[in-house]
Parts: sequence; structure tokens; C-alpha cells
Amino acid sequence: MKIGILISGRGSNMTAIVEAVQSGLIADSEVVIVISDKTSAEGLLKAKERGIETLTIIKKGRTREEHDAEIISELEKRSVELVCLAGYMRLLSKEFICAFPDKIINIHPSLLPSFKGLDAQRQAIEYGVKVSGCTVHFVDEALDHGAIILQKAIEIKDDDTAEGLAARILEHEHALYIEAVKRIAEGKIKIVGRRVVSAKQSE
Ligand code: GRF
Repeated sequence: MKIGILISGRGSNMTAIVEAVQSGLIADSEVVIVISDKTSAEGLLKAKERGIETLTIIKKGRTREEHDAEIISELEKRSVELVCLAGYMRLLSKEFICAFPDKIINIHPSLLPSFKGLDAQRQAIEYGVKVSGCTVHFVDEALDHGAIILQKAIEIKDDDTAEGLAARILEHEHALYIEAVKRIAEGKIKIVGRRVVSAKQSE
């Protein structure tokens, strides 16, 4: 399975996926491209250091559709079969979603559908929930909305700060994202309506 990863920043989830692929944990797969929409993304260097081709495609005055079209074209050129969003800070256009139907996944640092959007860890603390976590989900046109692949719950402590909680959630994000990519690569899951289930269950 050829994987393309989109980032905007630090790239720790991207690095986790790359290392899982390179170590053989995710078999028969290859990360063929890492694309950033920001020249300053720290993840670019991390990808290069691991021998992955990188591209920076900034939006600069173009419409979302025009920007996405260039990214789609670069992904298609490399026959990408799974697009992983890893801290990619843009909403994808309808054209992007349609170009890769059920082939785009994302990780979000909350238990969706709670706390969509930016600063999810701070939202969880301010709301006062006792449990938050992270979610890997398919991407559709709505923000943080597509079918849920995997979730991991993490308890919130009385003295948690947004930063502390974010760091604790991040420790689990990497393993969760790797497991989701592995299940897709091995053909172990399928989407039934809004539910992602074991491919065996509905055979
Ligand atoms: C992660 O918390 C992820 O859940 C969210 O953005 C952050 C990206 O971190 N979508 P990194 O760039 O993967 O280190």
C-alpha cells in the first residue's frame, strides 16, 4: 500500500507511521511522499532524515480547490492509495475527498464527536469531562466527522493543563494511528454506513 502523509507542523504522528512502515510493523507498505502546506513544518526534516521524499505546497493566494488540486496531482503521480492527515491544519475540499474515496484518514486528540476542531485538549478540560482521548477516523467533507476507526480513552486528572493532557494523549496517538494504518493495509476493516467494522463480520 502506497501511503502519502500530509502535515503542517511537528510531524510526530507522521514519524511514527514512517518508522512503523520502515521497521516492517506495517507490512507491504511504503510511505512514498510527505507533503506540507508550510515551509516551516519541522516534520519535513524528520521525513527527509528517514529517506522519504518531501514536498511543500503552500496555498499562497489560491483557492482551496486550486491548492488541493496540486496536492491531489502529486499524490496521484505516486499512485498513493492511502492519505494520512497528521497534524494537517486545513479542511479538504470536496474534490479532494472525491479523489480518494474512503482513502483519507485523520487523527484527532479527543474522543469524537466531542471537541471537534482546534485545541481539543483545552476544550475537554474547560468542559470538565473526566475522560478524553484520541480518535482515528476516515475523513469526509465535515470537520472531524467521518466514520471512526479506533479510539483510545485517557483519564483527565484534576490538575491537568491543556499542555500536560496534550502530551499524555500524544503518547497514545502514535500507537493508535499505526494500528489503524496496519488494519487498513491488511484489509481487516470495512465501512458499513457510519460504522467501521471487521472485514470478516459482514462477509
Ligand atoms: C496531534 O495532536 C493530532 O492529533 C492533531 O494535531 C497534532 C499533530 O501533532 N491532529 P504531530 O504534528 O503529529 O506531532
